[in-house]
Amino acid sequence: MKTLAGKRILLVIGGGIAAYKCLDLIRRLRERGAIVVPVMTQAAHHFVTPLSVGALAAHRVYTDLFDREDEQDVGHIRLARECDAVIVAPASADRMAQLSAGLAGDLPGAVLLATRAPILFAPAMNPAMWSHPATRRNLQRLTEDGVHFVGPNRGEMAESGEAGEGRMAEPLEIAGALEALFGAGDAPLAGRRAVVTSGPTHEPIDPVRYIANRSSGRQGHAIAAALARLGAEVTLVSGPVSIPDPAGVIVVKVETAREMLAAVEAQLPADIGVFVAAVADWRAAEAHAGKLKKDGSVPPPLELALNPDILATIGKSERRPRVVVGFAAETDDLLAHARGKLERKGADLIVANDVSHETGIMGGTSNTVHLVTAEGVEDWPSATKDEVATGLADHIARMLLEKPRP
Ligand code: CTP
Repeated sequence: MKTLAGKRILLVIGGGIAAYKCLDLIRRLRERGAIVVPVMTQAAHHFVTPLSVGALAAHRVYTDLFDREDEQDVGHIRLARECDAVIVAPASADRMAQLSAGLAGDLPGAVLLATRAPILFAPAMNPAMWSHPATRRNLQRLTEDGVHFVGPNRGEMAESGEAGEGRMAEPLEIAGALEALFGAGDAPLAGRRAVVTSGPTHEPIDPVRYIANRSSGRQGHAIAAALARLGAEVTLVSGPVSIPDPAGVIVVKVETAREMLAAVEAQLPADIGVFVAAVADWRAAEAHAGKLKKDGSVPPPLELALNPDILATIGKSERRPRVVVGFAAETDDLLAHARGKLERKGADLIVANDVSHETGIMGGTSNTVHLVTAEGVEDWPSATKDEVATGLADHIARMLLEKPRP
């Protein structure tokens, strides 16, 4: 489908090994009907040639701010003005810092400052650089300035083989994110609202101690990002985690199960609810205002109270989202237990995590899941949490299509 028909897309190709993916990205954009105007940074020349970029784009490649021919009519302003969107891929830490600071020292920098068209960054960098506080600050600032982001994904880095978050989004994902920006037909969740819970909860015992669990938040965060990539407006309600906020979603940070429930309720009505958080089932019946002191050899009694079940509360409520998805960690009788949860908690789908296998271990990076619905079970092969998230977001989009509006 020509979802980008006639759209003039300025593609800024940055320096970085992921630049090779831009060759495929150009094809993907053109097959959707877009006119691709390539701009290459100096550094990009080390990774791809203007010849191949120009040939695939069937368009002249712009490279230098001081290109005499174009500067006669202030070429960078014209480029900035005449496009419908700008994609920066790969977007380096340096490029993010430059735009965040408003620097315009090269052609891409000048175009990015001069344009009023939407800007989409596809960052790619070493995981340590992506998680550096300076990059986090720039990400936050650019997001506030209205810059859109797709990725980076988790995975192995091309240059170092190192695993982590920093790999550039795939060309199809970038094309999808652009379609979502234009509200084009290929964004199946455009105009839908989703709320996702993620991470553990912390239940205070006293001001310094709490009950918690090992959930990393990786699966929930990845699902929030995957739904956003399909065009949904996503709010991620996250317990305390040490991973970065995913791109393109609104993050509400909470500590306890009761705060999480209130934050989710505040997001209703929504079309989709995905409950991935490992909510503590119990809290200390009474959280002490002062730090508990050691008293000889007798430990203090710890009385527990039941926490609300967020999935069940929302799944059974009148304001329930049209599609409600829960997770279940099972070691045995996986299907029977998952079906029980489906029923008990009012979910449309339970993603059963097989934690008897090495891959399903909490806090890890991959997952073996089975999708349990009232109709049956779908077994998925072991995959990374990002892959599970992408597949699940697609599955949810289909469920929403098939489920008639009330
Ligand atoms: N859940 C929730 N609120 C709780 C407990 C769980 O929203 N207080 C949600 C989780 O986010 C998840 C599902 O319910 O979607 C998990 O259900 P749970 O009954 O806790 O199952 P398991 O984690 O598999 O644990 P167990 O079978 O031991 O109860």
